Amino acid sequence: LPPPPPPPIADTSGRLVHDAAHPWHAPEEGDMRGPCPGLNTLASHGWLPRDGVATPAQIITAVQEGFNMGYDLAAFVTYAGHIVDGNLLTNKLSIGQATNRTGPPPPPPAHAGGLSAHGAFEGDASITRGDAYLGDNDSFNATLFDEFVSVSEKYGGGAYDFAAAGALRMARIRDSIARNPYFRLLAPRYHTAYAESVFPIAFFIDGRRTGAERTRLDPAVARGFFESARMPPDFWRSSSPWGRPEVGIAVDALYRAHPISPGSNNGTVDSYTHDPTSPRLHQFCEMYTDYVNVTVRELYPNAKGVLLAALNKNLDYLYSALGRTSCPQVPPFV
Ligand code: HEM
Ligand code: MG
Repeated sequence: LPPPPPPPIADTSGRLVHDAAHPWHAPEEGDMRGPCPGLNTLASHGWLPRDGVATPAQIITAVQEGFNMGYDLAAFVTYAGHIVDGNLLTNKLSIGQATNRTGPPPPPPAHAGGLSAHGAFEGDASITRGDAYLGDNDSFNATLFDEFVSVSEKYGGGAYDFAAAGALRMARIRDSIARNPYFRLLAPRYHTAYAESVFPIAFFIDGRRTGAERTRLDPAVARGFFESARMPPDFWRSSSPWGRPEVGIAVDALYRAHPISPGSNNGTVDSYTHDPTSPRLHQFCEMYTDYVNVTVRELYPNAKGVLLAALNKNLDYLYSALGRTSCPQVPPFV
C-alpha cells in the first residue's frame, strides 16, 4: 500500500533554489514534461526526478523545497492529481503524458495517463496551453503567451500582477467560450483555473523582492518558467509559504474583479450556461466531495482488491491534506 505523505519541510524561509546542486538541463529523450510549468521546472532543475516521473511524496517535498508552496496546498493538489492521473499500484505519476515508466496501466476507464490527460485535472482555459479540443493542451503556446504580455502591459503596467492575473483569467475563459464548443469550466477545474492564475505571482517571483515589487512578475521571467521550465540565474524561492489560505485570498480578489460562475458550452460556441450543481469557489468541502464522488468515481467505478485498497489509502491522504478545514470525509469506496 502507498506510504503516507512526508511531513512538512522544517525551514520555510526564502533561499537560493537555482543553486549549484540544481542546475537547469534540457529534458532528454523520453523525459516527461507537461501542462504544469511548476512541476516541469522542478524536474528540469533536479528538484524532482529529471525524467518527470515521481511519487506523491517526491512532489509534495519538491514543491515546498523548490517554490515554498504551503504544505496543505502541496499535499492536496498532489493527491488530487495522482489519484486521477497516476498509477495507484506503482505509486508513480507522470507530470506529462502517459509512459510505461509508471508501470502497467489500471483497467479502464482509469488510465494513469499522466497530468497531460485531459478532463479530470488538466482542463480548459489555461494561461499558456490551449484547450484539448483545439489541439494541444500540453505544450507552451507562443500566441497565448503574447496575450499574457499584452494583458500585463494593459493592466499591470508591464508586469503580471493581480490586476493582470484577473483580467487574463477572464480573457482566457472568454476565448474558450468563443472558440471551444465543448468548453467546460466545472469543479475542480473551475477552482484550479483561478489558483493557477495566482501561482505565477506566488512562485515565479524572486523571494528577495519586497513591497509592491513582490507581486509584479516580469513577463520575460515568466516566459522562462512557462516555456523552458527554467528558473532565472540565482533564483530564490518565496520568502514565505503560499498555502491554501494565502492562495485563497488572492483567488478571491481575482474572482471579485472578474466574476463568472461554473458552467460549460453545450456543443456550440458562445453557449456558456451556468451549472448550479458545480461547487463555487468558496465551497471547498463541496469541491472535495464532488471530486471524490464524481471525478474519481467515474474513473474507478468498481475497483477491487489491492487496487481498491490503494485507491482508498490515497483518498485518505487527500482527506488528511484538508488539515484544519473540517469537511466531512467521503466514506471509502467499496
Ligand atoms: C497548471 C498540476 C504544483 C504552477 C497545472 C496543470 C496541472 C498541474 C495538471 C494543468 C491544468 C491546466 O492548466 O489545464 C500540478 C500538481 C502540483 C502542481 C499536481 C503539485 C503540487 C504547481 C506549482 C506551481 C504550479 C508548485 C508553481 C510553482 C502552475 C501553473 C499552471 C499549472 C502556473 C497553469 C499553466 C497554464 O495555464 O499555462 N498544474 N501543479 N503548479 N501549474 Fe501546476
Ligand atoms: Mg489546460
